[in-house]
Amino acid sequence: MKIFTTVKDMKNFSRECHCAGKIIGLVPTMGALHEGHLSLVKASKEKCDVTIVSVFVNPTQFAPNEDFDAYPRTFEKDVAKLKLLGVDAIFHPSPEEMYPAGFSTYVNVEGGLTKKLCGASRPTHFRGVATVVTKLMNITQADESFFGQKDAQQVAVVKRFVTDLNLSPKVNMLPIVREESGLALSSRNAYLTSEEKISALALSRGLKKAEATFFAGEKNSAALKKIVADELATEPSISADYIELLKYPSLEETEFVEGESLLAAAIFIGKTRLIDNIILTPNS
Ligand code: PAF
Repeated sequence: MKIFTTVKDMKNFSRECHCAGKIIGLVPTMGALHEGHLSLVKASKEKCDVTIVSVFVNPTQFAPNEDFDAYPRTFEKDVAKLKLLGVDAIFHPSPEEMYPAGFSTYVNVEGGLTKKLCGASRPTHFRGVATVVTKLMNITQADESFFGQKDAQQVAVVKRFVTDLNLSPKVNMLPIVREESGLALSSRNAYLTSEEKISALALSRGLKKAEATFFAGEKNSAALKKIVADELATEPSISADYIELLKYPSLEETEFVEGESLLAAAIFIGKTRLIDNIILTPNS
């Protein structure tokens, strides 16, 4: 397994792979890898000849008051996990390599896609994500890219700019991987105390209850959101940032679940912000 830290070396490797007629899969990550990330790697390994995993804690997607410095960095452990899965190359650049002096070009997806849900409390987040993912797709010359449904809004944003900018990679979204308790895997779960981890289960429990009610015939958005809100209210240590039900992937408002829809919530528990969601598909 190769580890590249410069754009030049990463590009040379990708160029050689393409010249040899190989299909390249990219799994963009910020490291602190868990089974959710590894499921993306496995999907790439199945679909592509060459799998590149980027490990880069991207400063431009964190606001100054957010957890960029505290974000878990476990590179040695990540390398061992990726080696076991037979990954071909890791791209692990420094912030200076990705954003050298003079850097001043950003990719910004306009409108509700980046302003709703997480965009409301993290107004500069998706600009950072869109910029770094565009750069990673360009540097690795990927044919396929792999993202997790836990960041369903991120996937909608990525699909939008890939289409709008005529980028090459196909965007694949893989299901959320959960602990047996229901808690969606997240690198930020590492911030939770054992008590907070138990309280946090109200989030997945609320979404599951809403999903069951939806399957029992409830299509009203307000009623489904209330089920999540009521479940979160059972845990005094949780405060909800948002609970939304929107059309997916357009993120347009909808009074009733008619087509594919995203029921998503973000909560604060102590200082930690967690997100989770369920995609509701009528007649599924
Ligand atoms: O989902 C993430 O971990 C990040 O937002 C991504 C896609 C790696 C971009 O930094």
